[in-house]
Amino acid sequence: PLRVVVLVSGAGSNLQALIDAAAGDGAPFRLLAVGADRDGTLGVERAATAGIPTFVCRVPDYLTRADWDLDLERQISAVDPDLVVSAGFMKVLGPAVLGSHRVVNTHPALLPSFPGAHGVRDAMAHGVRVTGCTCHWVDAGVDTGPIIDQRCVRVEDDDTVESLHERIKVVEREMLVDVVRALAADRSWQGD
Ligand code: GAR
Repeated sequence: PLRVVVLVSGAGSNLQALIDAAAGDGAPFRLLAVGADRDGTLGVERAATAGIPTFVCRVPDYLTRADWDLDLERQISAVDPDLVVSAGFMKVLGPAVLGSHRVVNTHPALLPSFPGAHGVRDAMAHGVRVTGCTCHWVDAGVDTGPIIDQRCVRVEDDDTVESLHERIKVVEREMLVDVVRALAADRSWQGD
């Protein structure tokens, strides 16, 4: 199976979808560890409940952002994954992590529109009638790497940022599981 590390910052519902998909014999991928950038996340709790090792790397605990990046890379490399999945991880990854790992991210908008930390709010503020989610390879930019998959979601007249984000996340979880399964099935991206 594909060896996967997941990074989270919050609720971890995308992580939970991966945990569920990785459960059982014959699953095409395995979750080796879950990392977070803050304490007390439901995501880390979900991992612990599933018996998956966890670690936390908090930026304020390091002298510099570069030290944080190096330690995060060290924690990830300790379990030797094939793939890192950023699933609601709200920090921009640094050169140490990106230089040693292939990383995919999931984003709650149709990139290249509405990158950044507020994709759902920004799409609504623009008045789009269709939005969605994107899974992409992570490069040094913010939500700029090559797109792997996208799914769309219509905006309803009575949507709030919260209601729209919840509907996006339903589709997003399916997309993310499909993407990780596909990357496990076709390893041509490894060693690129
Ligand atoms: C997801 O919608 C993810 O796309 C978004 O945070 C949510 C995490 O939900 N990420 C970003 O906005 C990154 N810029 P979860 O913690 O329940 O998986």
